[in-house]
Amino acid sequence: MSSKRAEYAKRNDCRVCGSDRLTRFLELGPQPLANAFLDEKGLKEDEEKFPLDLYVCDECSHVQLLDVVSKETLFSHYLYFSTVSTTIPAHFASLAAEIAARHTVRGDMVVEVGSNDGVLLSAFEGTGLRTLGVEPASNVAKVARQRGVATMNRFFTPETAAMIARDLGKAKVIIGNNVIGHIDDLAGVMTAVKGLLTEDGVFIFEVPYLVDLLEKNEFDTVYHEHLSYFAVRPAQTMLERSGLKLIDVKRQQVHGGTIRLYATHIESATQPAPAVQEHVQLEETLGLATHAPYEAFAKRVQELRDTLIKLIADAKANGKRIAGYGAPAKGNTLLNYCGIGANDLDFIQDSTAAKQGLYTPGMHIPVVPPADFQANAPDIALMLAWNYQEEILGKEQAFRTNGGKFIVPIPMPRIV
Ligand code: TMP
Ligand code: ZN
Repeated sequence: MSSKRAEYAKRNDCRVCGSDRLTRFLELGPQPLANAFLDEKGLKEDEEKFPLDLYVCDECSHVQLLDVVSKETLFSHYLYFSTVSTTIPAHFASLAAEIAARHTVRGDMVVEVGSNDGVLLSAFEGTGLRTLGVEPASNVAKVARQRGVATMNRFFTPETAAMIARDLGKAKVIIGNNVIGHIDDLAGVMTAVKGLLTEDGVFIFEVPYLVDLLEKNEFDTVYHEHLSYFAVRPAQTMLERSGLKLIDVKRQQVHGGTIRLYATHIESATQPAPAVQEHVQLEETLGLATHAPYEAFAKRVQELRDTLIKLIADAKANGKRIAGYGAPAKGNTLLNYCGIGANDLDFIQDSTAAKQGLYTPGMHIPVVPPADFQANAPDIALMLAWNYQEEILGKEQAFRTNGGKFIVPIPMPRIV
């Protein structure tokens, strides 16, 4: 929303292993920042766009963006609130229960990196654990504090970690949910984790899984905030380079498919669970250290775009009214890449108050509250928040009973 120019730099080395041998396999840009929703004034200004290209490292196979928009631009004020769905709070409640039961005893400290509006840490209430959130966006940190979750409004750096260790002691568990992939300086954040973790502590972090991204054509999850797209093998390399050790991997269904990774100090006696080797093996079988799966993915993404454009053009030609359902950041990657604009979608409904009344970056489609969708239901709704498909279909039974259809764009566009 701000007209301040973004700081941007292109790096030319892998953020896991430092190699400069990287291969570009998908070009989605130039694109505006996926969360840079515009107000009326912003519509009249020049919109900044940046390359949005995916690379794979030929040395360690880490998939990543090299076009880096500064973290201050992206994360100082944030439009994403974890609590917008019912799916995510339920997912977090089960993680909190697991940590309280398996990884801690009363009085231990749990630190969450990128704690957002405090939804996960609030689930620790009544466990006897001390919790601390670290969240760089002042607006979401404020919401967390209002719900009683102790929150430091800072980026998680080695300095932040040292400050916490000095003032509050070390953490038995450090959590990073959907945040490690957002960090350019991976070595810095791993050093911070290493420094803050107790000797027998566990670092538990969750990232979208590259295998799911490739298999389900989730290209729209690529945007400038997401710098890394992790598979288990490169994650293991990243941890080991900072004196940490991967001890377990669990696949999760949320956000289109994520992995929860468990790490300890490399000196720990804990033996890695069989799941670590099983995932490394799976990735080898899929050829993730070769170019083939990435080239095939890029072809499918183009096919997806052509299919979706045709589906929408046909519906328009038949006089159908179409709207968007959910205005997640990834929806903007999809709309901008496919060139789906305000002539195609009358509006997009979104439950996030902070997005309502604004326009989507690039395509300038108005975002309206859910009540407007109810009052002015389209014939077809393009489900941009496809990761909440079950929740949305459950909630919108009336729309469907009245003849309304959804287009679910991923993994290949289909009408439901
Ligand atoms: P996310 O996919 O990044 O979590 O964002 C989901 C977006 O979709 C968020 O802006 C809220 C919106 N949304 C709705 O508008 N209605 C819904 O029922 C759900 C589940 C999400
Ligand atoms: Zn590398």
